[in-house]
Amino acid sequence: MKLETVKKEFVSKLAITYPNEEINSLFKILCLEYLDLCPSQLLLSKDDLISRVQLDWFSEVIVRLLNEEPIQYILSKTSFYGLDIKCNPSALIPRPETEELVDWILKSEKNRISILDIGTGSGCISVSLAKNNKDYSVSALDVSKSALDLAEYNALSNKVNINFINADILEYNSDIKYDLIVSNPPYVRNLEKKKMQNNVLNFEPELALFVEDNDPLVFYRAILEFANFNLIEKGKIYFEINEYLFNDIKELLISFGYNKIELREDAFGKLRFARAVK
Ligand SMILES: C[S@@+](CC[C@H](N)C(=O)[O-])C[C@H]1O[C@@H](n2cnc3c(N)ncnc32)[C@H](O)[C@@H]1O
Repeated sequence: MKLETVKKEFVSKLAITYPNEEINSLFKILCLEYLDLCPSQLLLSKDDLISRVQLDWFSEVIVRLLNEEPIQYILSKTSFYGLDIKCNPSALIPRPETEELVDWILKSEKNRISILDIGTGSGCISVSLAKNNKDYSVSALDVSKSALDLAEYNALSNKVNINFINADILEYNSDIKYDLIVSNPPYVRNLEKKKMQNNVLNFEPELALFVEDNDPLVFYRAILEFANFNLIEKGKIYFEINEYLFNDIKELLISFGYNKIELREDAFGKLRFARAVK
């Protein structure tokens, strides 16, 4: 079968679930990744013949996409801050907003510092920090052993050295003091579930996303309690935050004695990040 015919079938089967523009973009991503074509070849390859094995793969992918599985899990990877990051359902798929948090740190913190990434998931934050500043000494913590295995793989494949810690931040104690703590902890309230899409709700780990409606700042508080002893004086905290809870985060930081508190919008104009000095 020709690639062009595969595309027609792909478009017609997915039309009930996805808008046309998204289907075209999914098809392009799949061809670039699986058929190993480059964007310029794609246009010239419509008459290329697709093998039986490749056809079977496209059919399987169509079923998974109709089931609203994220493309990053289907391909087992995504790109984050220019790096290849392996993805699987044990960790959140790295989001573009989080690249902005990494960028903020890299542009602001030029010194030789020790960093702890709390709730590292796929390791996207810690790996991209370590990769882009060789003077950082990076540790990364997660309660999920399977997420940490993934983060370790990503550190190895991107050739960076990270100290991994398998621990629950709600009860973790340590003697080590860090210069900087960064975290994108779970921050979505259960009440926000109804606004979320099936591809997130049905596939991404609950543990990485949700907090109780009556205590949405539980992780921020635990991190600040940990930082009481484990962040140096004048050390910095960088958080990714829930856009609806920026005031509460600010008050929490003030109550823990932090100053120079800055809130920052993401590229979509949502207050998504906080930075503060101890
Ligand atoms: C929102 S995800 C962030 C993942 C990754 N840092 C990112 O930005 O894509 C939150 C992470 O916190 C971890 N986590 C949840 N509860 C935790 C706990 N009690 N202690 C440590 N980590 C926890 C989850 O396993 C998940 O990997």
